[in-house]
Amino acid sequence: MIKLVISNQRGGVGKTTTTLAFARHLAGKGKRVLVVDTDPQGSVSVTLGLKPSSYLSHFIGLRYALKDCIVSAHPSIDVVCSSRDTVQAEAMLMGAVGREQAFVHLFTPVEAGYDVILFDVAPSVTLLQTCAMVYCGKALVPVDMDPLSLHGAVATHELTRILNELLRTDVRVAGLLPTQVNLRLQMTEVITNSLKSFAERASIPLLPAIRTDTTVTKATKQRIFLQDYDDTCKAMEDYRTAFETLLSLLEASPHVPIAAQA
Ligand SMILES: Nc1ncnc2c1ncn2[C@@H]1O[C@H](COP(=O)(O)OP(=O)(O)O)[C@@H](O)[C@H]1O
Ligand SMILES: [Mg+2]
Repeated sequence: MIKLVISNQRGGVGKTTTTLAFARHLAGKGKRVLVVDTDPQGSVSVTLGLKPSSYLSHFIGLRYALKDCIVSAHPSIDVVCSSRDTVQAEAMLMGAVGREQAFVHLFTPVEAGYDVILFDVAPSVTLLQTCAMVYCGKALVPVDMDPLSLHGAVATHELTRILNELLRTDVRVAGLLPTQVNLRLQMTEVITNSLKSFAERASIPLLPAIRTDTTVTKATKQRIFLQDYDDTCKAMEDYRTAFETLLSLLEASPHVPIAAQA
């Protein structure tokens, strides 16, 4: 089973785009995918134009059954959408004993229905991001060609280090994914070089890059998956290569789940 958090402490770097393209890529390979949006901005439902009747807050805070909180985005992709109420649900978790384990308790019982669970998270360190990291054990970090995005990636790596120290977990960054790459821009070269040395220093795999492609925003305007808008566009061509590399890395080092603590 694949469980992955798509994270970077900076916004606008391609987290939601990457989450949805990966979900659709895996669905195309016959996998049953659950996408969980923990960002109170609710970007996943906005991007796909989904209209859920219940949200992540109902699942976490009111303990609704998962089946009542999902909306179908594709025959093989269910989505738990997020709304501003996610903030209240998160506040409720704050006081709980062993709160970082909350997603282990909430999602382990529903795992059997899926081959893949992906978490799209907010661009800030939140308890829900910590919960997703502890549950998944692995993060994919998209980095666009901006110095702040690189700082955000370093911060995500630092978060995994702190979690592992404090909670004795084994959370790792499975890969750094360069996004919105335009080789004609000097900044791309600068960031790519810094990203390479960070990846080497931290022993994190650097995945093949995703080029800037206006097709991405066109697909979002149509509220459909990038693959269903134009499977032959250059961003999709790059995503396919990056996802296949990522899948072989994930297969090579499967996550050993930590035991849920009572
Ligand atoms: N490869 C790409 N080429 C062009 N635009 C992109 C690409 N990837 C993402 N974008 C655009 O960048 C913006 C931010 O992407 P998004 O996935 O929402 O980032 P995040 O979830 O990190 O905030 C969106 O408008 C998206 O359409
Ligand atoms: Mg987003």
